[in-house]
Amino acid sequence: MEKPQTHPLDFIDREQVLELLSEQLAAAWSSFDRPRPHEAKLSSALRQRLSVALPQAPGNPQESLADAAQVLDASVSPSRPLYAAYIGSTGLEAGVLAGALANAYDVNLASSAGAAELLEEQALRWMAEFIGYPLLDGTFTSGGMTSNMTALTVAREAALPGTRASGVGGRPAAVYCSAEAHHSVVRAVEVIGLGAAAIRRIPIDDHRRIRVDALGDALTQDRRDGVIPVAVVATAGTTLTGAVDPLAQIADLCAEHDVWMHVDAAYGGPAASVPAVAALFNGLERADSVTVDAHKWMGVQKSCSVVMLSRRGALESAFAHEEGYMPHAERAANAVDGTFEYSRPVRSLKLWMAFRIYGAATLRSWIARTLEHAETVAGAVRAHPRFELAAEPSLSVVCFRHLGEGDLDEHNMRLARAVGEDGRVYLAPALVDGRTCLRVCFTNFRTTADDVSELLAVVEEIADTL
Ligand SMILES: Cc1ncc(COP(=O)(O)O)c(C=O)c1O
Repeated sequence: MEKPQTHPLDFIDREQVLELLSEQLAAAWSSFDRPRPHEAKLSSALRQRLSVALPQAPGNPQESLADAAQVLDASVSPSRPLYAAYIGSTGLEAGVLAGALANAYDVNLASSAGAAELLEEQALRWMAEFIGYPLLDGTFTSGGMTSNMTALTVAREAALPGTRASGVGGRPAAVYCSAEAHHSVVRAVEVIGLGAAAIRRIPIDDHRRIRVDALGDALTQDRRDGVIPVAVVATAGTTLTGAVDPLAQIADLCAEHDVWMHVDAAYGGPAASVPAVAALFNGLERADSVTVDAHKWMGVQKSCSVVMLSRRGALESAFAHEEGYMPHAERAANAVDGTFEYSRPVRSLKLWMAFRIYGAATLRSWIARTLEHAETVAGAVRAHPRFELAAEPSLSVVCFRHLGEGDLDEHNMRLARAVGEDGRVYLAPALVDGRTCLRVCFTNFRTTADDVSELLAVVEEIADTL
């Protein structure tokens, strides 16, 4: 008679699966060391298995692991050195170790979770120190979207007290950001009940930064019209071109108009630690709140973002509450009082491990190297008779066009598609001032100078064939 299973782990031979998993991780990691000539294809047998109905009976763990690894290997991974599309990451090994451990313990930071809270607070302090921000409150979130929304919820409560209880109540309010701010700002404003019409998209200057004169005019006009300014969202590293808004001047304006200053540094924030570009971030330290995604330019896995605030207790003012299933011990706040989410994993462990294992100086030098890659590409584009820059790069994003035959928008879109089909290089098409271009963004610490030369050679080779 078969032994009855008493425990989920009875299904698994632990040693065997750990051995297989470590082989798979080693294979994945070594496949990220160098660009591969072609994307892996899913086998037809596995493709067929991906359409079978819900299994009722136990399956073989080794086979499941092997299938899972094959599916992921045939998927687009930002960990590959020639991934320069959108805003990638690195998938640092430290984050893999942290992810495995965090999943094993499955600690929930919604309620008091013991030592993990100390680690989370330390990781927050380290992140703030890394970018030079005077942190007094903050939390890890699932991404830049949630971090921006968290900060704007706090700003809304500061500008329109009592909104939590009774809603905006028709009080006219406004949030200011550059024409090229990330859409998450609009979404956050919609979600927190101000309505997208509250967004003031301020025009940009020749360096694609918010125009401070136009921002000042908009604030003055709104005050005159009885509209309450809730926050100015400065972007430190726009998604499209990497432009950094003039933070010190924005901080002056916010002080003058008594408005909350939030900096969306989801992408660009880590570059504040690099001496070569640190001056661009002057004024960041004066912001009321800042978003930084560790799952972008800090190299750790999704999802791991940080929202930092310079006012103690700011998060509680927006999120704390009293419920019978989570009574407060005397006057102490519950963990969940400072977050939008309830159940919450220890996302900070990935970043904490990265700081512990590599050290801040190493991370800083890897970030500096990705900035150099962008300079290399921009230099090569400037020097090439058949390419042109679509925008001057500020950080690690470069937007450029190939000067082919015919309609250049169609030509560059075809080129972007052809590069995608070729599969050696990952980049994305983008629209700068309505003109189609190719956009690369270097955030992957695995990318070497040789990989950058390869990237350029591949794009040039494919462009010549169109
Ligand atoms: C400037 C900026 N803000 C916010 C976001 C949203 O971040 P997430 O995708 O982590 O929610 C992005 C994403 O690219 C971004 O570039």
